[in-house]
Amino acid sequence: MKVLRTIAELREALEYMRQGGHGPVGFVPTMGYLHEGHASLLRKAGEKSGTVVMSIFVNPLQFGPNEDFASYPRDEQRDLELAEREGADLVFIPSVEEMYPQPIRTGVSVSSLTTQLCGASRPGHFDGVTTVVSKLFHIVQPDYAFFGLKDAQQVAVLRRMVADLNMNVEIIACPIVREEDGLALSSRNVYLSAEERRQALVLSRSLREVRQAIEEGRISTVDEARGMLGSVIAESSLAVIDYAEILTFPDLESLEGGSRLSDAEGEVIIALAVKFGRTRLIDNNVFIPK
Ligand code: PAJ
Repeated sequence: MKVLRTIAELREALEYMRQGGHGPVGFVPTMGYLHEGHASLLRKAGEKSGTVVMSIFVNPLQFGPNEDFASYPRDEQRDLELAEREGADLVFIPSVEEMYPQPIRTGVSVSSLTTQLCGASRPGHFDGVTTVVSKLFHIVQPDYAFFGLKDAQQVAVLRRMVADLNMNVEIIACPIVREEDGLALSSRNVYLSAEERRQALVLSRSLREVRQAIEEGRISTVDEARGMLGSVIAESSLAVIDYAEILTFPDLESLEGGSRLSDAEGEVIIALAVKFGRTRLIDNNVFIPK
């Protein structure tokens, strides 16, 4: 496994791999502080690619002024051990100066899919994501890029960017990896106190219970599902809801409150963002309501 810190070094290493016939190239972009969720993307990339590239870059552009850019957890040594163990061939760890040598004046922005859910609570966030991922795609020129459904809106936005701008890369969405008790893995889980960690289970539990109630026919309308979601989350005293929504997926369009979920065409997403103290956690479930 090679670690590259400049764009020029990475391009040279990729050229060498391609000339040696080690294609196709699979790419896993991350912000580091890696866990089993990131590892699952690396393993999937290994199944489909001859060369696996991972990037570790905490992208300042996607953090708001009052968000945790400066304190975002970092542990390069541990990340490199995980990357090596999970089969990364090239790990790209650029500095902020390497990625943004001058104030950036060019950006990529996806409209409409970015105005709801995390886009509403984190203005500018998705512009930062689409801009950095475009830059990374230009640098790596991957055949496949792997993203977790933990960030389902990110997947929807990036899929649309790739389609709209004819980027020559296939986005592969991978399932959410969870702790045994159901909590979705996240680099931000380290911020939780013991009590917050215990109560954070309400995210996965509420998703499970609402989905089950829909499948068993105990609730059928969008309003009923929203109501149940709210009341399950309210059982947790520390939980402060940022959003709890049911939308179509991947178009992220709203559904009429009185409409029956089973009338929705295709998939729907139940998406949650809940704060515990200063820590904001997200989780979701994408499914076809039948
Ligand atoms: P980061 O939060 O580090 O996540 C990197 C990738 O890991 C994303 O595709 C994310 O969805 C996936 N991931 C995180 N937790 C997961 C889990 N529990 N199960 C499955 N996949 C999981 O997402 C970003 O970084 C950034 O926005 C990035 C795309 C790198 C652009 O800066």
